[in-house]
Amino acid sequence: KVKPFPREKGIENGLRLLREGYLYIPNRRKAYQSDAVKTRVLGQEAILLGGEEAAELFYDEDKFKREGAAPEPAVSTLLGQGGVQQLDDEAHRHRKKMFLDLMSKERIEIWAKLVEKYLYIATKEWIRKDSINFYKESQKVLTQAACEWCGVPLKDKEIDKRTEQLISMIESPVAVSKRHIEGRIGRIKGEKWVSGLIEQVREGTLQPDEDTALYQIAWHKELDGELLDLKTAAVELLNVIRPSVAIALYFAFTALTLQQFPEEKNKLNGENPYYLHMFIQEIRRYYPFFPFNGAITRTDFIWNGYQFEKDTLTIFDFYGTNHDPRVWEDPEDFKPERFSNWHESPTDQIQFRLLAQGGGSYSAGHRCPGEWNTVRAMEIITDFLVNKIDYTVPEQDVGFSLVNMPTTPKSGMIFENIQYKG
Ligand code: HEM
Repeated sequence: KVKPFPREKGIENGLRLLREGYLYIPNRRKAYQSDAVKTRVLGQEAILLGGEEAAELFYDEDKFKREGAAPEPAVSTLLGQGGVQQLDDEAHRHRKKMFLDLMSKERIEIWAKLVEKYLYIATKEWIRKDSINFYKESQKVLTQAACEWCGVPLKDKEIDKRTEQLISMIESPVAVSKRHIEGRIGRIKGEKWVSGLIEQVREGTLQPDEDTALYQIAWHKELDGELLDLKTAAVELLNVIRPSVAIALYFAFTALTLQQFPEEKNKLNGENPYYLHMFIQEIRRYYPFFPFNGAITRTDFIWNGYQFEKDTLTIFDFYGTNHDPRVWEDPEDFKPERFSNWHESPTDQIQFRLLAQGGGSYSAGHRCPGEWNTVRAMEIITDFLVNKIDYTVPEQDVGFSLVNMPTTPKSGMIFENIQYKG
């Protein structure tokens, strides 16, 4: 039997979304006691969805498409035009394979080694300083590791500039005023930078290793046998470099966790190697990162009694689903033990519960192909902070907003007295 959607009042609720941030959709789901609520945002009818069961619906490609779903401010900053996120069906699967082919076991280990290498290079500087901003320093470490991993040359004097361009794309999609403009500029400059490199590869004046992202993307052939146009190739190369640098947000949250829950350090002493994995999964579940994502209905259909109409924007709640009490016991507690029997992510199994980096299937759906890289980098930073260095955390504001998207501890995590352990 078809029933009407609960509906949020108002002809435009975008401002409420900005004001409530990560909690906008969870608040609506709670208020209307429903995993599907109708509203109006971005000047159109929209359905807000959340929960494990709704995730399965959202990732059903017969019902939803991504083309046209991303709003202009996100395309002009975070995403870029024509990238894999906005493709559907065969074109999507073909492009997605290009990303997944970059993520072999061997290549992920190379990535891990590079993160470690630049971390140790940076530590030499940190030891000499009175204090560091760990979030900012992590960005630079990851920019260098990501560029080398991708086969992208990066001069020392370029590090700060490129790091800021990449981070501006990440921090700006829903930011207001200045930071948003910086993100638009960051994207224009970033695309110009990497499209120059792709051109050089195609001309033969730059020769990265064959298994790097720069090489693979420069020579990737579309289904029609043609190379990617230069702009799209640039967008896709940034789709590897940019989120690799975004892992800095998780680095900052890892440092915050060790500060807030010092008892975790004892459990991370290496005695139970699986604990490290559980700890990282819990960080990815507990902290806010990617708040939600949009898709558009392809047909009319009925789900749980609600009539979905074709061409309706549908926004799925990642953060709220990661904190859904029906899936997670005491969701507001930090409890790595909840993952003691968790073997679902990142593996090839399809899953709809831990949605830190999307759900569903990697190869057929839009789930993040960078989950292994993220988890490996987090393993390295956790072990480094717990077992390799000593540092003190002076009084500072480590609170994080649930309104700013994305969010970080306010202070960025300031460390003092950094030293190698005994
Ligand atoms: C897609 C999150 C790291 C590359 C996504 C999606 C999310 C996400 C939520 C969208 C899923 C969906 O649409 O259903 C994250 C987070 C990261 C991270 C929180 C931690 C920093 C990475 C890394 C890479 C990467 C390290 C590459 C090395 C991509 C690509 C897509 C994607 C290419 C598009 C996939 C598609 O549309 O098929 N990510 N990601 N991400 N991510 Fe990540």
